[in-house]
Amino acid sequence: MDLKRLDAFAKGIIFEAGKRIRESFTYDLEVETKSNANDLVTNIDRETELFFIEQIHAFDPSHKIIGEEGMGERPDSLAGVVWIIDPIDGTMNFVKQHRHFMITVGIYIDGIGKLGYIFDVMREDLFYAIAGEGAWYNDSPMRKLQPLKIEEAVIGINASWVTPNPKINHEKLIELIRTVRGTRSYGSAAMEIAFVVSGKLDGYISMRLAPWDIAGGIIIAQEVGAIATNLEGNGFDLMQSDTFIIANPSIHQLILENYIEQK
Ligand code: IPD
Ligand code: CA
Ligand code: CA
Repeated sequence: MDLKRLDAFAKGIIFEAGKRIRESFTYDLEVETKSNANDLVTNIDRETELFFIEQIHAFDPSHKIIGEEGMGERPDSLAGVVWIIDPIDGTMNFVKQHRHFMITVGIYIDGIGKLGYIFDVMREDLFYAIAGEGAWYNDSPMRKLQPLKIEEAVIGINASWVTPNPKINHEKLIELIRTVRGTRSYGSAAMEIAFVVSGKLDGYISMRLAPWDIAGGIIIAQEVGAIATNLEGNGFDLMQSDTFIIANPSIHQLILENYIEQK
């Protein structure tokens, strides 16, 4: 497999998909809800996923696609070349704020992450990695993450986990919030992962993410030394949803041991 050629193709269709979203969404947006009133999807999410599928199949019909909107093959294993795509991560931001939403793509070959992309559509900022060769923010190589103390860390977390909830001991998370330097909540898992791998955040925690939220980001994470696991400390299973933490290696284990207590 010629990874350089695949990378050039992937970047080309990500930039093109971003351009199409920027050109159409202010006048052509139809919003619907999915599993609940806060789970939004638009015609542009679906059109963008379809654009990827058509382009990828024209490039190589043997490639398979797992997309959030379910328009690809959704294979039940990662055998062969599998693209895992979230056409718009942060749909609520997309609808409400018209910014802070990402296209994110991970390309796996026989289950091994090879190419990872997180593209901020409005800023036209690309975070990406080629496994074993490094990670880049636009044209600049990303540095390996530097060690830091928990007291210096800025952590991404959704405020709903810090109120009483059935999944996690929120009192422990309050202790974490009191310990760290600051917290942020951006409303796009892929954006928060992009910020951790580029050192703009030092950790990000979620109680439930899907494979397409993280598939691109965890490939970038490997190249900069960020640690990404579920909240048990195990690797994320890309065939199902799971809990998730990504963090600077100097604080990942410390957060899991001292501040995470699942119910
Ligand atoms: C969602 C966003 C959000 C995260 C949710 C995801 P979507 O993705 O990443 O930040 O908290 O768990 O489902 O629905 O906007 O693609
Ligand atoms: Ca998502
Ligand atoms: Ca999405």
